[in-house]
Amino acid sequence: MIVRGPLWRSLIGLGLLAGAPLSIPAFAQPVAPSPEAPTGRTAKSTSVATKDMVAAANPLAAQAGREILAAGGSAADAAVAVQLVLNLVEPQSSGIGGGAFMVFWDGTAMTTLDGREKAPAAAKPERFLGPDGKPMKFYDAVVGGRSVGVPGTIRLIEIAHKKWGKLPWKQVIEPAIRLAENGFTISPRLNGLLSQEKYLQNDPLARAYFYDAEGKPKAVGTVLKNPAFAQTLRAIADKGADAFYTGDIAQDIVATVTGHAINPGDMTLDDLKSYVVEERPAVCGPYRVYKICGMGPPSSGQIAVQQILGVLETQDMAAMKPGPDAVHWISEAGRLAFADRGLYVADPAFVSVPVKGLTDPGYLKSRAALVDPNKSMGKAKPGEPPFQKTFLWGASDGIEYGTSHMSIVDRNGNAVSMTTTIEDGFGARLMTKSGFLLNNELTDFSFTTVEDGKPVANRVEANKRPRSSMAPTIVLDNGNKLYAVVGSPGGSLIINYVAKTLVGILDWKLDPQVAADLPNIGSRNGPTELEAGTESEAWKAALEAKGHDVKLIDQNSGIHAIVVTPAGLIGGADSRREGVAIGN
Ligand code: GLY
Repeated sequence: MIVRGPLWRSLIGLGLLAGAPLSIPAFAQPVAPSPEAPTGRTAKSTSVATKDMVAAANPLAAQAGREILAAGGSAADAAVAVQLVLNLVEPQSSGIGGGAFMVFWDGTAMTTLDGREKAPAAAKPERFLGPDGKPMKFYDAVVGGRSVGVPGTIRLIEIAHKKWGKLPWKQVIEPAIRLAENGFTISPRLNGLLSQEKYLQNDPLARAYFYDAEGKPKAVGTVLKNPAFAQTLRAIADKGADAFYTGDIAQDIVATVTGHAINPGDMTLDDLKSYVVEERPAVCGPYRVYKICGMGPPSSGQIAVQQILGVLETQDMAAMKPGPDAVHWISEAGRLAFADRGLYVADPAFVSVPVKGLTDPGYLKSRAALVDPNKSMGKAKPGEPPFQKTFLWGASDGIEYGTSHMSIVDRNGNAVSMTTTIEDGFGARLMTKSGFLLNNELTDFSFTTVEDGKPVANRVEANKRPRSSMAPTIVLDNGNKLYAVVGSPGGSLIINYVAKTLVGILDWKLDPQVAADLPNIGSRNGPTELEAGTESEAWKAALEAKGHDVKLIDQNSGIHAIVVTPAGLIGGADSRREGVAIGN
């Protein structure tokens, strides 16, 4: 059910939501659709449901998840259906050719699954250096087989289904098979991204699939069928993820990666066969009365979000409200978090990451003490958290458009927060004969190998997982009950998108739709970044007066969030993208 403004306000008036009065400040209303805005927003209404809900990046994918939930499926069952349909309808952002992190709450325990891509066994630190020893240009590295990591998503969803699924494996795959065989219509967002795309057309299989005979992107509304993907899914439905990691599909992946004419990779059948999903302890920390849980290394996501919140906890953010003062504190907290992220976080199998020290409340208080309420610190330096074990340096990374986030709550109160990626939009621009695109996740490694005379923590190494910023998040209330499920795509900006949304929901008591639609703001330890085309532009002068170097940039988040209330589930899907929150 979609709730329009007045009913939504009446729910607030009845005090039904979240056990606490919620208000929607006039300045925080969803931004009206504006064709000129760089983010091309479409205003969306808050969704509510009584039993279950899925918030995902495309209506067809969300609908597949909702059908599975309605059939009695668990959040994990729905996640399988959503992921496989996203592969078809949002192929630029995620799929079985990529990797993912899932945070799962079963009512008593929080588990995280690491389905991050890994570097092939033959990978060396100099992988992304040119013949002159300098880092390659980004797209010279991305396009082709060199950037492709061993995919993890299909093994991850198989394991999630085995652990927490209720419906048969074949049943949860069926919606994607149906759409691949019968076809789906190309969305405006997919068509728009194909129109801007410069590299995908050079791949013959991708060109034949996404473009017409004249090389123009197939039009919005064109029915696209993918029989090769349907066949792949049928094999996976029959034989499980082994059908992907061995046999014909694995051979196809290796041939596609190693056969690229200009930029071949070195993935082998052994790399695929030996891939494992890692179950890791969730990283959890306090924020006010809540407990915030998410993915630990190789993701920097939850550590950085927790560090930002740990600094904000020293302030009365509820009194501050969205505006320049809040941006000052959030961006200063972001600087401090990104400074630590750069130094300390990489694949824990290769680097000893001081997770406890980095998220220690005492350490975060000491970091908060570095913030001057009246003046930006400019560039933050990394701190010295307790239990420090690593002295390596990692370079920071950029923005990407090839990631997606789903939030799901089922009728038994289980929750999935899953962020899933093929890294850049359309990944490595390589389509397999098996009907899916391959990731370029290895460009999430640092291209440089040594900085300031020290080895870079996030440098390429054989069998290593590149550092991620993905921050799939689950919030528990002070009774250890599920309160919120949040996440977003957006490369390293994910950290700021998630932190902002959590402040919106937890401090400002905004419903998740309004919180997602707040202007994106923050700092990655460079300039203070405000979202171009939003009301945050009006905050620039006040921030500059405090010494901030302000940049207005496009911040195309894709936040999908669900909040659990006594009245039911309240969902929001970022107005900057085409997703929806729907439920039963
Ligand atoms: N490729 C997006 C991330 O892992 O942060």
